Amino acid sequence: MKALYKSGAHEGFELVDRPEPETGPADVKIKVFTTGICGTDLHIQSWDAWAAANINAPLIAGHEFYGEVVEIGEDVLDVKVGDKVSGEGHVVCGICRNCRAGRRQMCINTQSVGVQRDGAFAEYVVIPETNVWVHQGDSVTPELGAIFDPFGNAVHTALSFPLVGEDVLITGAGPIGLMAIAVARHAGARKIAITDVSAPRLELARNIGVDLAVDVSKMRVKEAQHELGMREGFDIGLEMSGHPTALPEMIDNMNHGGRIAMLGLPSQSIDINWGKVVTHMLTLKGIYGREMFETWYAMSAMLSSNAVLREHIASVITDRLPAAEWEQGFALARAGGGGKVVLDWTTI
Ligand SMILES: NC(=O)c1ccc[n+]([C@@H]2O[C@H](COP(=O)([O-])OP(=O)(O)OC[C@H]3O[C@@H](n4cnc5c(N)ncnc54)[C@H](O)[C@@H]3O)[C@@H](O)[C@H]2O)c1
Ligand SMILES: [Zn+2]
Ligand SMILES: [Zn+2]
Repeated sequence: MKALYKSGAHEGFELVDRPEPETGPADVKIKVFTTGICGTDLHIQSWDAWAAANINAPLIAGHEFYGEVVEIGEDVLDVKVGDKVSGEGHVVCGICRNCRAGRRQMCINTQSVGVQRDGAFAEYVVIPETNVWVHQGDSVTPELGAIFDPFGNAVHTALSFPLVGEDVLITGAGPIGLMAIAVARHAGARKIAITDVSAPRLELARNIGVDLAVDVSKMRVKEAQHELGMREGFDIGLEMSGHPTALPEMIDNMNHGGRIAMLGLPSQSIDINWGKVVTHMLTLKGIYGREMFETWYAMSAMLSSNAVLREHIASVITDRLPAAEWEQGFALARAGGGGKVVLDWTTI
């Protein structure tokens, strides 16, 4: 099969022929139709310090995908050949304390598809049946199915705290921040503001119906509050940039008792006014991956019941390319001027 292969501990990928993955007794083999390109894949491509410390090369990367089941192992109970599926990329151990308590997203032995085991930038990928999410009905197109993983990050983060009637600040209008606007709206938020420093991404946010898209290279969040007619501060913060100045400014703009869910992965330490966190009784919650599988249930339920949400989530995909043009796709994703980049593997 054709696969985007990282042959060793160095920069780059090669589109080469690789053996098809083998299907173990509890595994499902999926013919990949579409894949999303994620920041993690850019790290793996450029082989930066994070990649060198976390990746087992050789490796086939890729963890955001949609495809069709073509083979099942002998112990597979529920998934069937022909099912259209996406996959949860965190493969958990099943035996640590959290796994046994049903908190699988908190497994201490998580292995990530496309990071520690071969992933989906290929014609076929194999994952355990327990990681397969079967799409019912036809509300999920192959394109939308390719971004279930990051959509799940948006849903997990945005639904961490009740949003009905709350004023929400999202920092970072990358693909995940953009999707969080649509989820917060669906969940009943009052005012939603988003920040970024990229004009085209802020424009995508406006098209999804954010109340205010703030360019923080030109305007402070405090002014944004005034513009929205707010007087006391945001109730909920969703940190989705990882930028070291975003969280401190968010903390400065929260109401007392405000709650912050943090998804963005900072690449350096962040200077926090902890006195304010304490005296304003703020809650900070880290978010990793998706809840298994309540987040997946919520994603499918929301998409199938809300056509506007579906349209807004689909609008986050701004570029589609055949997988053979992966280099251009990666360059577009790295430039960060649009939304999600999706590769089509059906014509490779
Ligand atoms: N915790 C997890 O499980 C998990 C999973 C996936 C992604 N992530 C992280 O979530 C974040 C969002 O993911 P994404 O794919 O949308 O990433 P992304 O890098 O495309 O988006 C981040 C956005 O933040 C913007 N930004 C830069 N400086 C800013 C500032 N000062 N204020 C506000 N925004 C600013 C960037 O212009 C960019 O548009 C990233 O940090 C990513 O690493 C975490
Ligand atoms: Zn991803
Ligand atoms: Zn575990």
